[in-house]
Parts: sequence; C-alpha cells; structure tokens
Amino acid sequence: MKELMQRLREASLKAITEAQDMDLLETLRVKYLGKKGELTAILRQMGQLSAQERPAMGQLANQLRSDIENAIEARKTELSAALLEKKLRDEALDVSLPGEKKPIGHKHPMYNVLDQIKDIFVGMGFEIVDGPEVELADYNFTKLNIDEGHPSREWTDTFYFTEDSSILLRTQTSPMQIHAMETRELPIRIIAPGRVYRKDEVDATHSPMFHQIEGMVIDKGVTMSDLKATLNLVVEKIYGKGTVTRFRPHHFPFTEPSCEMDIQCHKCGGKGCPTCKGEGWIEVLGAGMVHPKVLAGCGIDPDVYSGWAFGMGLERLAMGEYKITDLRLIFENDVRFLEQF
Ligand code: DAH
Repeated sequence: MKELMQRLREASLKAITEAQDMDLLETLRVKYLGKKGELTAILRQMGQLSAQERPAMGQLANQLRSDIENAIEARKTELSAALLEKKLRDEALDVSLPGEKKPIGHKHPMYNVLDQIKDIFVGMGFEIVDGPEVELADYNFTKLNIDEGHPSREWTDTFYFTEDSSILLRTQTSPMQIHAMETRELPIRIIAPGRVYRKDEVDATHSPMFHQIEGMVIDKGVTMSDLKATLNLVVEKIYGKGTVTRFRPHHFPFTEPSCEMDIQCHKCGGKGCPTCKGEGWIEVLGAGMVHPKVLAGCGIDPDVYSGWAFGMGLERLAMGEYKITDLRLIFENDVRFLEQF
C-alpha cells in the first residue's frame, strides 16, 4: 500500500507540475483526490490492514493528500502569473509610437470676414437676422418697388418655382428689409447675411449662388449722413483708420436717393494696381435712403420715420481681403486652398 501511495505521489506531482492550463489542473484534482479518485481507491483498501499498520498508513495518506493539494495550488499560482504576464505583454502600449493626428478643420475664409462684419455691427447695436431663401416675388421684388417688367424679374435671370412667377429663390437679401419692417418694433437696426441666387454661368467672378449682407436702420430723423458715417466707420474697422471712401450716385428702385460706395484701394492708395484693376477705387456696396413707397408699403409713415439700407457681396469682400482671384476657389472647398487661411 505504501508502494501504491509512493507511485501515486510521483505520478500526480509530475502531472501537476507539467500541467499547462487551469482546466487540466482541475481534471487532475478530480482524478487524484475526487470521491472516485485514485487516492480514495487506495484508502478503500485500508480495511485490509492490521490495526497497527493503519494509523501510519492513514498519516501517510493524509500527507499525500495535502501534498497533492499544495502542488495544485502552487501550479495554479504559477499558471495565473504566466497568464497575467502574457496578457500584459499582448496588450502592451508602445508609448514611443507617434500618436495618430486627427486633422482639425477651421473656419472658411469667407466666414472669417462675415464674423468680422457681424462683430462690428453688433458692437453698434445692430441685430443679426435670418430669413427665407425660398421667397415670394412680392418680397423679393414688388414690395421693394421693383415692378412687373423690371429686367431683374426676367425668367432668364431668376430661379422661379411656379409658372406664375410668384415663388423664387431670392436674388438679393433686400427682401429681409421688408420682413424686418413688417415684423419688428421701431426703431430697427439689423444686418441680414445670407445666400442669394441668380441664373449666372460659373466663372472667375460669377456663381449662381453667392452671399450678400443686407443692412438697414429705420428711426426718426435718420439721414444720409448717418449712412455715410456708419459705413465709413465699418470700412475703417475692416481696412484700417483713414481709409478713404467715395459715394457715387446710383439707382436702386427701393432707395431714394441711391448710391454706390467705393473705397480707395488699400493696396496702392489710389494709384492703381492689380487689386483695384488700375482704377484706384474698389466698389464695395450699394446703398441709399429707404424709398418712402417701401416704408409706406410696410405700414411705416415716411413723414415720421426714415431709414437707410445697404447691400454688399460677401465673396467679393473676402476675395479682396485675402487676394483670392477666382470665385470658384471659395466654393470648391479644396483643403489645399482652405488651409492657407
Ligand atoms: N440688393 C442690391 C443688389 O443686389 C444691393 C443693394 C443696393 C441693397 C442698395 C440695398 C441698397 O439695401 O440700399 O444689387
């Protein structure tokens, strides 16, 4: 019996030390120490021993049981340490590897210019308003004193949605003047930037969609000198102090009198250069005193109130500021172009 136990000891300890995973260890435990295991089978033979032999054998058996248990525990500890080691190695981070760079976008150059303009007007107490791009011809034309038959109402110039020419893509931000006068309390100080649409072929200076910024002030006692002073201030903020402006008479149906404002070329100081195409002056916007008919049409008494308005092209302004020579670059969104700003 002693011999049996000795063989079991050798076989079991060898198997346990060589076991490569936890499942196998458990199988071995059952095999050696379980109820139907090999040690139990040996102990069943105790009955055949004499009373003198039994205690010593019992002690040997107990010793063997605890040795096997200890061996299993020790092997378990070894295996789990090895497992942890492997896991750590597999999941190791190589902190010396350079990180993955996620390119971050930035504001489009045209919106930089728009933000600058918004800031200037907000600083003067103007509100920024937004309105529909799909517009009624009534607002885009009629209420702005642009009658039926005016060339800008032609189907060749304007995107219409309906056969009766009553709904269209706005061709200018000026209808925002009407929306503001119809819905706002007086006095009114607003700017309204947004997209406008015209049937133009795409080239270096034309696009069927572009942006305008409309501005308008309505109050008691507002005059042309307010218009000039305000716009001069805006121009100085954009182009620097002392920038010279000039106001040329012009015609717009919804303003009277009307004008166009030029700035003296900020690149050449008026001598003539590529930026101003040799003119010395750069046209910036159209403006004027809101026509009494337009005021009255919006329920505002032109004998009590007066106002001024302007409209300017945003792309043109951005192109001037960033020396962009082709309008298409602004809309193509090629990152190689945009990254330069
Ligand atoms: N809406 C005009 C255009 O698209 C620009 C304009 C001129 C707007 C004079 C105005 C203005 O508010 O007073 O050409």
